[in-house]
Amino acid sequence: MADVQTTLVLIKPDGVQRGLVGEIIGRLERRGLKIVGMKLLQIDEALANRHYEAHVGKPFFPGLVQFITSSPVAALAIQGKNSIEVVRQTMGATDPKAAGSGTVRGDLGLDIGRNLVHGSDSPEAAAHELTLFFGSDELVEWERSVEAWITE
Ligand code: RTP
Ligand code: MG
Repeated sequence: MADVQTTLVLIKPDGVQRGLVGEIIGRLERRGLKIVGMKLLQIDEALANRHYEAHVGKPFFPGLVQFITSSPVAALAIQGKNSIEVVRQTMGATDPKAAGSGTVRGDLGLDIGRNLVHGSDSPEAAAHELTLFFGSDELVEWERSVEAWITE
């Protein structure tokens, strides 16, 4: 299917520390998205700078790098129909106070600097970010037996 995309999701240090990894992955799975890569890692400063290079120079950048490197994250490669937009929608708005209820950030977060989850925001960002976190041999292409019950 032409509109199947693969996107990068990070469950940020606050999500891992708060024991919300299963909750967040569960929401993505229940949405119908498929996991094709998954690992726990601690982001170092070099990787943080590359991952958030679009935000270099902004006032919140130093705090963002400090936070994202402070404790492990769970990284996932998530595949599905329109997965980039669907993941962003499932996460909710950047600031949890503006995020709708029913979204990860709206249900589980309070503070823009502790917003639990990252999702790539464009096809270009997804392609780039996936290479930052996964080698091609770490992504697993597999057939889901329930696929026909999820996508037409
Ligand atoms: P993310 O990249 O983490 O998935 O979040 P996002 O796309 O929803 O938001 P983005 O604009 O890319 O910002 C990256 C992260 O920087 C922090 N931020 N703080 N204080 C502020 O004004 C501010 N703006 C952004 C947030 O933690 C956001 O997730
Ligand atoms: Mg972003």
